Amino acid sequence: MPTRRALIAAMPLLVAGCSGGESPYDRAVRDLWRLPDLGGGGVPMIALIRAATLAANGHNTQPWRFRIEPRAIEILPNFSRRTPVVDPDDHHLFVSLGCALETLLRAGLGYGWAGEPELLPGGGVRVTFSSAQARPDALFQAIPRRASTRTKYDGRPVDAATLRRLEAAIGQDVGLRWVLEPDARARLTDMIVAGNSAQLANPAFMRELTDWIRFDAGEALARRDGLFTAASGNITAPRWLGERLLPMVMTKNGEADRLAGWMRSSAGAAIFTGPAETPASWIAVGRAFTRFALTATAAGLKLAFLNQPVEDPATRRRMAAWLGEPAKRPDLVVRFGYGPELPRSLRRGPQAVLLR
Ligand SMILES: Cc1cc2nc3c(=O)[nH]c(=O)nc-3n(C[C@H](O)[C@H](O)[C@H](O)COP(=O)(O)O)c2cc1C
Repeated sequence: MPTRRALIAAMPLLVAGCSGGESPYDRAVRDLWRLPDLGGGGVPMIALIRAATLAANGHNTQPWRFRIEPRAIEILPNFSRRTPVVDPDDHHLFVSLGCALETLLRAGLGYGWAGEPELLPGGGVRVTFSSAQARPDALFQAIPRRASTRTKYDGRPVDAATLRRLEAAIGQDVGLRWVLEPDARARLTDMIVAGNSAQLANPAFMRELTDWIRFDAGEALARRDGLFTAASGNITAPRWLGERLLPMVMTKNGEADRLAGWMRSSAGAAIFTGPAETPASWIAVGRAFTRFALTATAAGLKLAFLNQPVEDPATRRRMAAWLGEPAKRPDLVVRFGYGPELPRSLRRGPQAVLLR
């Protein structure tokens, strides 16, 4: 068993270092994060599915399957990719489906196919497409540029006009609470740290998280899912070592400082609350978040979730009371601001997610 000191001494050697030339990981990212130009013809099913899979999704589990029908695509939940500890009632799974649905609809509009969604029993959605004027607008262009950027931002505020555009993007179904002022930010930071500390103290949470971390580029490339450490601004390492380093790197106090620093550096945060505690409502939340995220990306903003307070049930109740709606479930917490690019995450290809 290597000692803690030996592991820490080895860390500088483990930082991803591919000197000169494009690494296989970077090549995969370049191939993935784009919207190809398409010629005419029928509904570009595979291009639309590829675009939909670029959506945000919990732990990058990609908990979806797609079925191609004549002039329609069905998005179906893939319960084999659940995360039962962090998401026991599949809330995040259905929010993720909503993110994929909204991305699919936006991609459709960009390519000239208007989609009409219809909820299916069992939590899936069928989107029927009809030909429309192609609208490759700013939201369409933002699909391959959106990312979860988990690092410090530069502290610059966001102007009122941009905040209004973000608010309008969310629409009517889903409630939005801005967290911009110092007092509110301090309260929210407290709840983020409380939720995070509860999660760190839960061995089952840590085991599930560790299973979804991809500690080095080789693992991330082979699996094309999960949380690649470099995409969160962390070092890469072989799994055997990464698993041993994690408890040393993710300490309660260290994480509290990191989260507080991220909040201080952000222009603000937004809390999303859907209309009900049902899969249909969680899909609506995912759609609203995605419109928000694409609008923010188009405006040059970066964003990242800090969902610890809505994932830990005790902190979620505290947050609902703080928001003045104790009977409602706050669904998502998202910070935003201006910040740097980090390495991107990967996705499994259409062949892995298509049902035949
Ligand atoms: C419902 C949901 C919950 C999420 N919760 C968190 C979170 O609490 N913290 C975090 O850093 N990222 C969170 N994410 C972001 C995902 O980890 C991220 O979307 C995924 O790893 C893919 O990366 P990308 O967004 O950069 O494409 C969440 C995403 C969704 C859709």
